[in-house]
Amino acid sequence: MKFSLSLVALVASALSVSALNTIEVKGNAFFDSETGDRFYIRGVDYQIPDANGDTADPLADYDVCSRDIPYIKALGMNTIRVYHVDNSADHSDCMQLLADNDIYLILDVANQDQSISRDYPYYSYNYILAQHNFATIDVFQNYTNLLGFIAANEVVNDVNTTKAATVLKAVIRDMRAYIKARDYRSIPVGYAAADVEENRYQLAHYLNCGEEDTRAEFFAINDYSWCGDSSYTVSGYSTKVKNFSNYSLPLFFSEYGCNLVEPRPFSEVESIYSEEMTAVFSGGLVYEYVQEANDYGLVNVTAGSDEVTILTDYNNLASMLNSTSNPSGDGGYTTDNEASECPAYVKGLWEANNTLPALPSEASAYMTDGAGDPLGPDGPSNQWTPSDSSYGDATLSVSGSVSQATATLSTSSGVSSSAVGSSASATSTDGSSSSSSSSSSSASSATSSAAESSSAAIADFNRAQSAVNFAVPAAVVVVCFGFGLVAF
Ligand SMILES: *[C@@H]1O[C@H](CO)[C@@H](O)[C@H](O)[C@H]1NC(C)=O
Ligand SMILES: *[C@@H]1O[C@H](CO)[C@@H](O)[C@H](O)[C@H]1NC(C)=O
Ligand SMILES: *[C@@H]1O[C@H](CO)[C@@H](O)[C@H](O)[C@H]1NC(C)=O
Ligand SMILES: *[C@@H]1O[C@H](CO)[C@@H](O)[C@H](O)[C@H]1NC(C)=O
Ligand SMILES: *[C@@H]1O[C@H](CO)[C@@H](O)[C@H](O)[C@H]1NC(C)=O
Ligand SMILES: *[C@@H]1O[C@H](CO)[C@@H](O)[C@H](O)[C@H]1NC(C)=O
Ligand SMILES: *[C@@H]1O[C@H](CO)[C@@H](O)[C@H](O)[C@H]1NC(C)=O
Repeated sequence: MKFSLSLVALVASALSVSALNTIEVKGNAFFDSETGDRFYIRGVDYQIPDANGDTADPLADYDVCSRDIPYIKALGMNTIRVYHVDNSADHSDCMQLLADNDIYLILDVANQDQSISRDYPYYSYNYILAQHNFATIDVFQNYTNLLGFIAANEVVNDVNTTKAATVLKAVIRDMRAYIKARDYRSIPVGYAAADVEENRYQLAHYLNCGEEDTRAEFFAINDYSWCGDSSYTVSGYSTKVKNFSNYSLPLFFSEYGCNLVEPRPFSEVESIYSEEMTAVFSGGLVYEYVQEANDYGLVNVTAGSDEVTILTDYNNLASMLNSTSNPSGDGGYTTDNEASECPAYVKGLWEANNTLPALPSEASAYMTDGAGDPLGPDGPSNQWTPSDSSYGDATLSVSGSVSQATATLSTSSGVSSSAVGSSASATSTDGSSSSSSSSSSSASSATSSAAESSSAAIADFNRAQSAVNFAVPAAVVVVCFGFGLVAF
C-alpha cells in the first residue's frame, strides 16, 4: 500500500512557530524543564542514505525531513536519533518542523572522518576532532528540542577496544566543558554503547566514575536482546534493570528492535514503558525508520521520491506504542544513587586508563574564542596515525607502543560509488593484518551492532580503515569510505 500522509497536518503545523520545552536531567531520569513531568524517550533512529547509498544528513534537506516527520509523528514518537549531520548545513527548517510536531533530537556528533579511532584513539583526539565536536555543539545548542549529544557510538565494541574508552571519556569531558565555557544551556552529553556482555558494566561505570566534570550525563545501550515475543526475563531486560538499579545516570536504549523474528511484534514496548523498567530506564529508540539492506526498516523510501511505503513493522509498532501508556507519576526514578566506582583494570577485559588525555593544546582557544566555522563531513579528517605528517601535537600522550601502519586496499567492484562487495585490508609493520568486507553500501549502517555476528568484521574494518586512511590515494579511499561498518 502506497500513500502520502495528508499535507494538512504539515501545513497547519508550519503556521505555528513553536519551541519545545528543554529536557533536563535529574537523578537517573529526564524531565520537561517547564512542566516538571518525567520525559520518556519514545523514539526512532533516523538515517537516510542518499541516491548513492552514502550517508546523508536528513535534517539538512527539507524535502526529506518533511516527507518523513509526519510518519514519525503518526507512529507516536517524541524523539529521533540522527547519526550523522553536516554541521556546515542549515538545519533550521527541519528542526522547526520537528518542534512543531513535538519531536526532540538526540544527535551523534561523529562523522566517519571526524570520530574517535579504535586503533589510534590517542592520535585521533586532536584539535580537528575537538573543533568538529565543538562546532557541532554551536550549531545545534540553540534548538530547544535538541535533547542531548551522543559523543560517540560503539567505540568499545569488544574486549580488545577498551583502551579507547579513555579517549572517549576525555571527549565527553571536553564537550561538557565547552558547553559550560560558551555559557550554553545545560545539554546532556553521553554515549551509545554496543551491547557487549563481557564489559558492559565496566564501561557504564567507567563513564560515571571519577571527577564530576569528567563523567557522562547519560548512558545508552544499543540492545537487540528481545526477539519476537520474548519476555522481560527471557530477554535479559530484568537482569539489566537489576544490574543497573544503583546507576546514577539516565539510561535508555539508543537502538532496539531485534529482527530475528519477522515481522517484529514489538512486544518489548510494553516492558520498556512499564514500572518495572522505568525506575532504571527512560525509554528507547527503535532501529530504524527507513528500510536498508540490514532489514530493520519501518518504511520503504526511495531517494529523491516523496513516496513513503509503510511496512508491517510500522503498523505493529504504532499499535504497540498506542496501547502502551507511560507509568503515572514519576515512574520510580531516583536521585539517591551515587556516582560509580571506577572499575578495576582486568587484563584482556577492561584496560581503560583512569588518567585521561588532556584537551589537545591547539583546541584550548576554542573554549574562549569559540570553535569557528563548522567545516562539515568533508572538512579535515582527525584520523591521524603515527605515520601521518599532521601528527605533531605535543599533547598527544600515547601510552604503550604504537606501530607504524601502511596499508593496501583493493576492491572487487572496481572504482565505483558503490561499496557492495568491496574489501579493504591493512597491514601494519608489526605484522598484524586485517581485512573486512561488507554487503552494505551505506555508511548509514554504522550501527550494525544489530548484526552481532558482524562485530568482528566491524573491528577488522575499523582497524583497516585507520591504517588505510593515510596511506592510499584519495580516489581509492572514496570507495573504501562507502562502507557502512565503522561504528562511530
Ligand atoms: C536562538 O533561538 C531563538 C528562538 O528559540 C531565536 O530567537 C534566537 O535568535 C536564536 N539565537 C541564535 C544566536 O541563533
Ligand atoms: C581479542 O584479542 C585476542 C588476542 O589478540 C584475540 O585472541 C581475540 O580473538 C580478540 N577478541 C575479539 C573479540 O576481537
Ligand atoms: C550483571 O552484573 C554482574 C556483575 O555485577 C555480571 O557479572 C553479570 O554478567 C551481569 N549480568 C548480565 C546479564 O549482564
Ligand atoms: C520495500 O523494499 C524492499 C527492497 O527494495 C522490497 O523488497 C519490498 O517489496 C518493499 N516493500 C513494499 C511493501 O513495498
Ligand atoms: C492512541 O490513539 C488514540 C486515538 O488516536 C489517542 O487518543 C490516544 O492518546 C493514543 N494512546 C497513546 C498511548 O498513544
Ligand atoms: C553498584 O555499583 C557498583 C559500581 O559502582 C557495582 O560494583 C555494584 O555491583 C552495584 N551494586 C548493585 C547491587 O547493583
Ligand atoms: C595511563 O596513562 C598515563 C598518562 O598517559 C600513563 O602515565 C600511565 O602509565 C597509564 N597507565 C596504564 C596502566 O596504562
